[in-house]
Amino acid sequence: MTSNAEQWNALTPELLRSRGSNKWTAPEGELLCAGVAEMDYGTAPAVLDEWAAIAERLEFGYPAESVALEMNAATAKWHREQYGWNVDAVDVHPLPDVLKGLELAILEFSKPGAPVIVPTPAYMPFLMLPKTFGREVIESPMLRGDDGSFSLDLDDIARHFAAGANVFVLANPGNPTGKVFTADELSALADVADAHGARIFSDEIHSPLTLFGNKHVPLASVSDAGARVAITATSTSKAFNLPGLKCAQIILSNDADRTLWETIGWMASHGASTPGMRLNTAAYLGGEPWLGEVREYIEGNIEYARAALAELLPEARMAPMQGTYLAWLDLRAYSDEPELSEMLAEKAGIRVNGGVGYGAVGAGHIRVNLATSRPILERIIAQLAAAMTA
Ligand SMILES: Cc1ncc(COP(=O)(O)O)c(C=O)c1O
Repeated sequence: MTSNAEQWNALTPELLRSRGSNKWTAPEGELLCAGVAEMDYGTAPAVLDEWAAIAERLEFGYPAESVALEMNAATAKWHREQYGWNVDAVDVHPLPDVLKGLELAILEFSKPGAPVIVPTPAYMPFLMLPKTFGREVIESPMLRGDDGSFSLDLDDIARHFAAGANVFVLANPGNPTGKVFTADELSALADVADAHGARIFSDEIHSPLTLFGNKHVPLASVSDAGARVAITATSTSKAFNLPGLKCAQIILSNDADRTLWETIGWMASHGASTPGMRLNTAAYLGGEPWLGEVREYIEGNIEYARAALAELLPEARMAPMQGTYLAWLDLRAYSDEPELSEMLAEKAGIRVNGGVGYGAVGAGHIRVNLATSRPILERIIAQLAAAMTA
């Protein structure tokens, strides 16, 4: 039998398009797709076995209460074992997706009408979603180190909290920065928010995908202040490729939120699907061996991409990647254009995410999804380099 890595090396664009998911089919065409944050590796055997069992049982109805309870317990166990955060299963609740958690953080857990701070570059919906609820979005550009690494500008953040902002939106690990925040960084951020009576939406959806020995630290686990300010949301949907199943988890870490949940929880959890909960449970309980192979394959792809870019596009700056499979590339040395995605679709035949959607600091950058086969990645980088240097 071929190993997972051998099977992933053999993936073809035709096969990936035939799966029908958004990444490889939108918009229609023959492009090599490195946009939407889905991986091309399928999912864990434990998840597929559970899917077969669900089909066998015809378990397609509204979820029984026990289905949610099992998922909540599996989520708590994963957080205890993987990150050393002593989560009680009663503090975990189903959500249909992580963005529902952001909606709740804004509408239910923060001061009505208060502005929302988003460190940039940021996952696009963080900048768009608060506006749909009439909230002002304040972009707080992250600081860059000489090695391209990102850090939060705590003085800037404190200033915005002092001026009335009441929610901060954190992605840890970061999309598109690939940054894994340390306990010290999180603790300092929590103190700033706590001092202003503010909240932090801690989106930890990429937490199973930390790489190169970096360890995920949940915000709520770092200190009492962290537990007070955090509203944590996570899911297996990124690490196990299950976003179409509509299921995530919110984890509460203070008594006021627990009390509020008694009122809002029934509606907030509505929409989490039965198969989604079943498969999240299966991924948390049995998915780790497969995930280990995925991490290793992604690390190989990152190392390959870094070496190939150094050779073919030496002036491109790639952010250090401590987690996720999303590379953030600064291409300003090659082009004055702020938004490069349409040009790259046309001239390079690749679909990437242009940087402008990630905040003002994203001009001249692109986000490239590296979670594909090595041969497809080789073509993506060669075609990118040829188009940028033509
Ligand atoms: C940081 C981050 N948060 C949230 C999401 C979306 O999650 P969901 O589909 O559960 O809303 C993504 C998807 O790429 C993401 O990268």
